[in-house]
Parts: sequence; structure tokens; C-alpha cells
Amino acid sequence: MKIMILGADGYLGWPTAVDLAFKGYNLMLVDNYLKRKLMSKYKKKPLVSSPKLNKKVSLLNKRKCNVDYSNIDCTKFINLNKLVASFKPDAVIHYAELPSAPYSMIGYDESWTTLQNNLQTTLNLIWSIKNLKKSCHIIKLGTMGEYGTPNIDIEEGWINIKHNGRKDKFMYPRQASSLYHTSKIMDTDLLWFYVRMFQMQVTDLMQGPVYGILENEFMEINNLHNTYSYDEIFGTVLNRFIVQATTKQPLTVYGSGNQIRGYINIKDCLKCIELAIKNPPDNGDMNIYNQFTEQFSVNQLAYKIKKALKKIDIDVVITKINNPRKEKEKHYYNAKNNSLMKLGLKPTLLTNDEIIKIAQYVLKYKKNIDKSIINPKTKWV
Ligand SMILES: NC(=O)c1ccc[n+]([C@@H]2O[C@H](COP(=O)([O-])OP(=O)(O)OC[C@H]3O[C@@H](n4cnc5c(N)ncnc54)[C@H](O)[C@@H]3O)[C@@H](O)[C@H]2O)c1
Repeated sequence: MKIMILGADGYLGWPTAVDLAFKGYNLMLVDNYLKRKLMSKYKKKPLVSSPKLNKKVSLLNKRKCNVDYSNIDCTKFINLNKLVASFKPDAVIHYAELPSAPYSMIGYDESWTTLQNNLQTTLNLIWSIKNLKKSCHIIKLGTMGEYGTPNIDIEEGWINIKHNGRKDKFMYPRQASSLYHTSKIMDTDLLWFYVRMFQMQVTDLMQGPVYGILENEFMEINNLHNTYSYDEIFGTVLNRFIVQATTKQPLTVYGSGNQIRGYINIKDCLKCIELAIKNPPDNGDMNIYNQFTEQFSVNQLAYKIKKALKKIDIDVVITKINNPRKEKEKHYYNAKNNSLMKLGLKPTLLTNDEIIKIAQYVLKYKKNIDKSIINPKTKWV
């Protein structure tokens, strides 16, 4: 099967590429290094820097993988269209978006860059596929953050509504709490519109925050792990907490810490991607799956880390700081996540061992940690 991965240099894109390459898929990796450019502009660094795709792809191909790459900007329609026309993918995994909530809330320029990049990459992909190979399956990464924190159970993508004695099925209501998440709502909507218009095949994976490092022999030997960001703009909460814990800084819980979200280990994220590849919807249908395995409050997450790291003699201090975000801190949260389990996902739970493994990885590169980039400077209002 020929698979194109847009955003293949990123936190999820690169491990997805390695995983699928060793499973025998023929891959075209695409990235314009926008994330690297923004990280350097805002003076943020990942825990370990990694080479660009040309070097990484040549190492994969030395292991008899069948991988090519292209440095194109997916917001440039002509370039993406040409690449899709020549590669003719059976499926495209679309990660090529700006995924940072804090970045999107810095100011006007950042909000526009997020909107423009995320919607244009999605629109260009839709039209490239529609023009050239309508049977190609688009797998787009959405986020659980699109749903927000409604006072009712969160269904998987759709909801049946009865109103004045009549009923219909709608996309589940979405109300995000950052401009980034709002851009994801908009591209979900774009895809659904074109599924209805053009009978396309789309899977939208509503993913919760991902944590961890992929354990993989090829990545280990060549020191090519997925990027691990822990700064206030590009890092995700669990990865950031572990860096704080391993450098003897308090874990900074935003606000009361009662905010609940669904989380997923990076290993399971990759399993979900393969399950999506193997289970395309019929033409004209849109599969929407909630892609998380466990839900915790931020406090529960911090206490889990404290408990686990005690076992390797790290004493963790937890502190609460003013919440830089505007979000509900006390709310109902019960999200469904049965669909991917029904397709075969066996969840990797956030056990002490999983936390210790991530901490040991971070400890290996402790000398690279810049403590000054962790605490939040970006405020919502
Ligand atoms: N990481 C998470 O916890 C998480 C959770 C939920 C959803 N997601 C979604 O998964 C996707 C990937 O997330 P990630 O954490 O790997 O992000 P990332 O920023 O690490 O990777 C995205 C990659 O896409 C590239 N890119 C962006 N715009 C591009 C363009 N116009 N042309 C070519 N390349 C472009 C970037 O350079 C980057 O390498 C995003 O869509 C995000 O919304 C991520």
C-alpha cells in the first residue's frame, strides 16, 4: 500500500513513518519544517535535536524500507497536487498542521498563521485527492479538544437529537477553548462538507494529548527518537511534567487541576493509525473515532507521576499556579472511546512502569534541558 504522511518530521509523523516503513508500506514523507522554524523563532528546543528527513530517510532505506520524502509546503496547492499526482497514494495521513494551543493564542499573527496553515493544508489535500484519486483514504488527526467540556457525555463524532417529536443525526457539537482547537473544528467541518459533496473517504481521529517516546530498535540505534518538546508553547502536559520532575522542579498544575482530558500513549497512537488504514469507510462516509485510552484530571496525572517516580527515588513536588488558559476548571467529563477498541486496540495504560520509562529517557538527556522555557508565559486573556 502507498501511504503519504504529511507532517512526517513531527512528534507523531516521524514515529508513524518508522512504524509503517518497517511494516512494508511504501511511503512518501512530506514536511516543510515549519515546526522547527517556529521553535527556533520562539527560542524553544526539543529535548534532543534530530536530523532532517533526507538523513532519516536514507537510514530507513538502508534497512530495505521503501521510503521517499519531499520538502514541500502543503499550503501551496500546485506543489501538493503534483506530488499526489505522481505518488498516487492509497491513503494520506494528515498531520501537517500547527498543533499548539498556546502558540495560537499569542497574538493576531500567530492566530492567523494557525488558521491559514491548518485550513489551507486540509483544503489543498481534499482538492488534490478529489482531482486525482478519489478512492484515496484521508486520515486526518483531529483532537478531543474540539468537543470542549460539555455537561453531557461526549459521543464519538456524531449525536442523535430528538427535537419537537422529530429526530436526526448530527455532528456532535463542538466548542473549543483555543484558536488552534477551533481551527481543528473548522477542518473537520471542511472534510465533512467535501465528503458529502464529493463522496470522499475520510477518517477523523479525535485524539487526546499524546505522551511518551516510541521504543524502537532502529530509532534507538540511530538516536532518531521522536521529538520530545517540554516547553510552554510546543510541549504537552505529561511530557512537561516529567521534565520538571527529573530536574527537581515542582510540577506546575494550571489552576485547580480539576480539568479532565483523555490521554493516549504514543505506541497506541500508532496502533490507531494502522487500524484506521486497515478499516477505511465506504466512499461518502466519514468515520470519526475518539482516540484516547484513559481520562484523568491534571491533578491525577501529577499524582500518578509523583507515585511512580518515588520508586526510582525521585521526590516530586506538585504546585498550583494561576491558570494561563481560559477554560472550565470544574466540569463533567465522560467521553466514549469504544470504536478503536472494537477494531482491535489494546490500550497501553499509564502505569508506574510507563512513567518510569519516559523519565529514564528524559534523564539520559538531562544535560540538554533548558529550565527557562517550561513555565507558562503565554496567557489566553
Ligand atoms: N501531539 C499531540 O498530543 C496531539 C494530540 C491531538 C491531536 N494532534 C494532532 O496531530 C497532528 C500532528 O501533531 P504533532 O504533535 O506531531 O505536531 P508537530 O508539530 O510535531 O508535527 C506537525 C508537522 O507538520 C509539519 N507541517 C505543518 N504545516 C505544514 C505545511 N504547511 N506543509 C508541510 N508540513 C507542515 C510541521 O513542520 C511538523 O513537522 C496535528 O494535526 C495535531 O493537531 C496531536
